[in-house]
Amino acid sequence: MRTHKTIAVLGATGMVGSRVITEARVRGHRVLALSRKPENEDPAVTSVAVDVGDRDAVHGALADSAADAVVLAVRTFPLDPAFLVDATSTVLDAAAHLGIRVLVTGGAGALRSPGDPGLLVADNPAYVPPEVRTVAAAGIAQLRTCQAHATADWVYLSPPALLEPGPRTGRYRRGTDTLLTGTDGRSWISAEDLAVAVLDELEIPGPDRHITVVHTPE
Ligand SMILES: NC(=O)c1ccc[n+]([C@@H]2O[C@H](COP(=O)([O-])OP(=O)(O)OC[C@H]3O[C@@H](n4cnc5c(N)ncnc54)[C@H](OP(=O)(O)O)[C@@H]3O)[C@@H](O)[C@H]2O)c1
Repeated sequence: MRTHKTIAVLGATGMVGSRVITEARVRGHRVLALSRKPENEDPAVTSVAVDVGDRDAVHGALADSAADAVVLAVRTFPLDPAFLVDATSTVLDAAAHLGIRVLVTGGAGALRSPGDPGLLVADNPAYVPPEVRTVAAAGIAQLRTCQAHATADWVYLSPPALLEPGPRTGRYRRGTDTLLTGTDGRSWISAEDLAVAVLDELEIPGPDRHITVVHTPE
């Protein structure tokens, strides 16, 4: 039987965060929705305005909610790599202090290239053109921040190359630290199915700290 949890989502209004909240609610979990301008009318969702740059506010919101897990799904436009690293560090510190598991929805750039394990996707021009390399490299810095944390209980979920809104099919394949492609040759998943994978991992934690997923066509 599924045990209902309290799941905090930082980046609640974003593409990923909003889908994670929907999936968590479908499964009956309570949700703490955190962002600077959170909006949610579901009575089982507690919305709190928090800027991740405010370490005390992040810690306070997580402590007050007695969250079992926190999903980090923030980003800025334009991309600010230092913001991403600082936000990750803030959440890891608070979660470690409170004994909360962290699931980071990170970047595909931190994955190894299929067939060339020594080459990260962010450094592989076959996947990442020069103009978006900085964005892809930010995901590597975020993963390294997790790996360098001495005490936090974290898992880093790299999406496939393409992540965008789409249907919720529940069909995905899971891997560890190498970019996956489906049988149709696409490295793709909908944000809805990524949220399915997030909740699956939170409900039944796997053994790996760096994981990835891809949509499996019928
Ligand atoms: N293929 C890939 O590798 C791929 C593709 C897409 C996304 N991603 C990753 O997935 C994650 C989520 O991306 P997304 O597309 O869902 O982002 P998004 O739609 O741009 O949403 C960003 C979220 O961050 C929140 N936020 C921004 N600044 C904040 C701050 N200072 N304090 C608190 N909250 C803040 C925003 O809410 P407010 O404005 O209300 O604060 C919003 O909820 C990111 O790590 C991104 O890099 C990876």
